[in-house]
Amino acid sequence: MRQKVIIDTDPGIDDTMAIMLALKSPELELVGLTAIYGNVSCDQSSINALKLLEIAGRRDIPVAKGSNVPLFIEPHRYATHVHGEDGLGNSNLPVPKGKVLDISAAEFIVKMVLKNPGEITLVSIGPLTNIALAARIEPGIIKLVKEVVIMGGAATVRGNVTPVAEANIWQDPHAASIVFSAGWPLTMLGLDVTTKIIQTEEYLNEIYLANNTATNLIKAVMPFYQNFYFKRFGSKNIHTHDPSTIAYLLNSKLFTVKPIPVFVETEGRCAGQTVPDFCNQWGTQTHANICVEVNFQGVLDLIKKRLMN
Ligand code: RIB
Ligand code: CA
Repeated sequence: MRQKVIIDTDPGIDDTMAIMLALKSPELELVGLTAIYGNVSCDQSSINALKLLEIAGRRDIPVAKGSNVPLFIEPHRYATHVHGEDGLGNSNLPVPKGKVLDISAAEFIVKMVLKNPGEITLVSIGPLTNIALAARIEPGIIKLVKEVVIMGGAATVRGNVTPVAEANIWQDPHAASIVFSAGWPLTMLGLDVTTKIIQTEEYLNEIYLANNTATNLIKAVMPFYQNFYFKRFGSKNIHTHDPSTIAYLLNSKLFTVKPIPVFVETEGRCAGQTVPDFCNQWGTQTHANICVEVNFQGVLDLIKKRLMN
């Protein structure tokens, strides 16, 4: 049976690759996209989610708009310097014809999980506000979700927006703290592994040879993202953040995971830090399955094979 997936997303250039990868993987049934702020505003990310699905010929997949702001803190800046003002590399893709659902992202998540007990995997590739709100609206979903798979956090490596915080967690640390302590099966793909999966310019150019809808869309949005990497790191090679979550769903054997309690700092200079308690000295009752190692070549080969198909 196909694995039912909801992707909570802030598209977002790497989000785009993740969504295209999911759509080109027959093992997965993408039952909906829920939009969140992060790379851009939630208004823009909702439009982008509609755009991506329409370009992929999948207007049958619903989009639900999520929260415009974090649970408690003042909103941080959006990552438009990384993803462009439009969130899709300033590619100015066609305005979508479709509209978002008239229920919120959190309500959609609750509705789908209650309707499909034990079958829905929540893939979060943006800030965790919608996921936290869903758990708050209906705590019963915590025992009914198949798995929560998160691109976010940094357990044993430095952060990418502060010395200790990864962007998705930093944008709403209170939401992340709620999600990490809820007690549902949670797998964290943090910078520990996503920065080890490096897509070179040559790799991307090989993928573009497929000249299909997905690879042409990625080719259209990717240059802005590569230019950010060139300015930051002096190379147009990119990290594989969001697509890694889909690769994990397709072949979890490519990742080494360890069950480790994770504390999310919500206050002060280190807000957004995901602190692994390797010896459970704080006696936390819940844990995350942290991805600590990855067969990066296996992930790259899997992504290329699927996108070029
Ligand atoms: O830190 C990387 C994450 O932040 C990715 O999800 C990227 O899309 C941004 O949302
Ligand atoms: Ca993202």
